[in-house]
Amino acid sequence: MTTTSASDDLDRWIRNDFVALNTRLEEAYFAADAQILHGRPELETVKRRIGSEGAELVGRITESGAPRSLPTGDDERYELLGSVGFYLGACRRHEIEGPQSAAWPLAQLLGSSLGVVPRFVFAHQVLYNRAVGDTFRTFTALDDERAFLLYNGLSMLAYQRTAAALRRVPALGVSSPLTAYLLREARSGLDDVLDLGRTLSKTLDVDRFFLNIRPYFKAHRVGGVEYRGVNGGDFAAINSIDVLLGLCSPYDPFYQALLTEKYPYLPPEDQALLRATGTAEPLLDAFVREATAGPITPQLRDNAELFLTVCRLHGAASAFHHHRLVVPFLQAPAARAPQEQGQGQESEAADLTTSGPPLHVVMGTLARLVDLRTARQRPGTDGGGSARPSLDRLRYALDAAPRSGLRTDDRSTDDRSTDDRS
Ligand code: HEM
Repeated sequence: MTTTSASDDLDRWIRNDFVALNTRLEEAYFAADAQILHGRPELETVKRRIGSEGAELVGRITESGAPRSLPTGDDERYELLGSVGFYLGACRRHEIEGPQSAAWPLAQLLGSSLGVVPRFVFAHQVLYNRAVGDTFRTFTALDDERAFLLYNGLSMLAYQRTAAALRRVPALGVSSPLTAYLLREARSGLDDVLDLGRTLSKTLDVDRFFLNIRPYFKAHRVGGVEYRGVNGGDFAAINSIDVLLGLCSPYDPFYQALLTEKYPYLPPEDQALLRATGTAEPLLDAFVREATAGPITPQLRDNAELFLTVCRLHGAASAFHHHRLVVPFLQAPAARAPQEQGQGQESEAADLTTSGPPLHVVMGTLARLVDLRTARQRPGTDGGGSARPSLDRLRYALDAAPRSGLRTDDRSTDDRSTDDRS
């Protein structure tokens, strides 16, 4: 048996029997309104099948000659790490102990060959998840899981489109007519993020998410090391946008810690993009510099108005994520949920989130990100790190300068209010 056919067998199992087995367990948990059930013989049989069938299939890959014959392409190895990771994630979710250790050496080898953590991350679920017969890999056959991955994945693509446009602006300068095109592209990407978030919030069932989807994202061990769980923020574009706009600073220790922590959880190509974050002048600084030096030409004015709209949309999307997704889909059900078996209050709270800290700490971090992205200065603080003073300076410079001539492009002056978006 070659590594390729052994990998294909694992892939086929992940896409078929694995999905059916997980779905059976999830339906039983959901019917009992429980996060997990123990001691029901028919369910224990299903859990044992997941543990042993997965271990056998991964074992065949290891026996068939890895590391000599692991796929040479980074993409194939990353995909294989995703398949092994799906298996390990399901074992953690159903609290299957024992057989999954057979998959640790392969996960570690794949992770170290790629420079990433040896577990599945959100990118494996959405951005590096090849569809076969219209269907991408999922843990279950539940419609809610598919919708969660679909709208999350589309939002990530929209953020990536926005970041790709913004990365090109420094080379053109903030008064270029080409920059207007790129800023419109960024605006359109963030409009999509907001629309997709709204669709997700209306489509996803709170209990299904809480009981049947979230538990697959938990932290788990690979070998002697515990790796934190899946985090929807593990991609570089969101940070490129933060820093390029000038709403977050890579010199801010709070923000720096987030970047450092997430680095090994990113796919390899995103790691390179994250390393480049902070190497260009923030657009806000460039706009302030040129607008205060004057004169404010028609193109500079149009670009600056568009830029302010992009900043407002980025803040609105972040506020939406916090108030319309995290609060109703995680914080509210967590407050209602009984403690998971065998866990103390603090570890339960940590288990609800994916990054390790208790829920209130994660909520505090997310709230601070919302403040930075909306440039909100909290009352009673010195507003350290907030872009508000620079945004106000730019707005003042635009309002104070006389308008000269016609606007360069009607489409670029659209300054839609985003008040209703958060
Ligand atoms: C039901 C839907 C969602 C829930 C409950 C949710 C929950 C969370 C939680 C709890 C975190 C913090 C993770 C931790 O540190 O433990 C987080 C982070 C993050 N999520 Fe979501 N999320 C949802 C949908 C989305 C969507 C659609 C996106 C768009 C791409 C997204 C983007 C992010 C980002 C970028 C972060 C990293 C923190 C930041 O930079 O803002 N999430 N999410």
